[in-house]
Amino acid sequence: MVRGSASRVSYHDLAPDAGDFRQEVIAGLSRAQKSLSPKFFYDERGSQLFEAICELPEYYPTRTEVALMQDNASEMAQQLGPGCVLIEYGSGSGRKTRILLEALAPAAYVPIDIAGPQLADCSNELARAFPDIAVIAVCADYSRPFALPGLERLRENRRVIYFPGSTIGNFTVPEALAFLRGACTILRPGGAMLVGVDLKKDPAMLRAAYDDAQGVTAQFNVNLLVRINRELGANIDLAGFRHRAFYNAEAGRIEMHLESLRDQQVVISDRTFTFRKGETIHTENSYKYSIAEFQDLARTAGFVAHSCWTDARELFSVHYLTVPGQAKPL
Ligand code: AVI
Repeated sequence: MVRGSASRVSYHDLAPDAGDFRQEVIAGLSRAQKSLSPKFFYDERGSQLFEAICELPEYYPTRTEVALMQDNASEMAQQLGPGCVLIEYGSGSGRKTRILLEALAPAAYVPIDIAGPQLADCSNELARAFPDIAVIAVCADYSRPFALPGLERLRENRRVIYFPGSTIGNFTVPEALAFLRGACTILRPGGAMLVGVDLKKDPAMLRAAYDDAQGVTAQFNVNLLVRINRELGANIDLAGFRHRAFYNAEAGRIEMHLESLRDQQVVISDRTFTFRKGETIHTENSYKYSIAEFQDLARTAGFVAHSCWTDARELFSVHYLTVPGQAKPL
């Protein structure tokens, strides 16, 4: 087993290019229910707005999950074991990661994020703070399959995926299942996953978390249009759309939309899209699970559901899942 050695960051750029963004936007706005993937929220401004959302009084998930990590990090670290390769999907600001890294002492930390500049900043900061942990940063769209680079030297170390923030809730249920199945393959028998999952609760509390009084979530949603204007040379009138968020109880999810305030046309890359007044672009789902629902999903994907930590009000959960079987030397 290789131990962590250097405080340097190796950086692998597998990021999608502007052509992929254009193609996905055109395909999304050509559907009967217009839609855009939430992964496109995270340009530089979108990442800043998301950090601001995490501080909002109404947005309980971040502070609840941070407290859960603080209260249970040593127990979590015991289950994960020292010397593992910690692979984090959607690394973001790294606040929860620091808590885990302090307790865990892995051989290597592999943050994967689509937002390149934030990934680089956060990786450099963590490498400085944890000089004994090798940091292997991967800029990639993890909603699509890709081969993990840079792990040749760490073939025999246990792999652990850390997927905090309830980002798994931004996948539809079939997408979440496919993601978990892919994770099982990456982890190999004997590997493990620590995943943060937001829980079902009073719809009024959920709605407030996604439609805050200061309008930060509204700016985060509308920023997607700002990004399309800037990167694809579009002419979208921002005042022609408004943020909408509601709880779809049947589907068990918050939905975010951008609603057209009038009949209008927008031109993106020589394509014209027509909007009727009241028509929406569906920009995000944020699924909420019960503990049992999420454990069932994880089992269907091939995991064993071991432990689950939750807060006293049962707002949020962190699950420890393992891939059955013995780790085989490669
Ligand atoms: C990143 N993701 C888990 C957040 C969520 O709660 O679904 C994104 C978000 N959208 C609006 N507010 C926060």
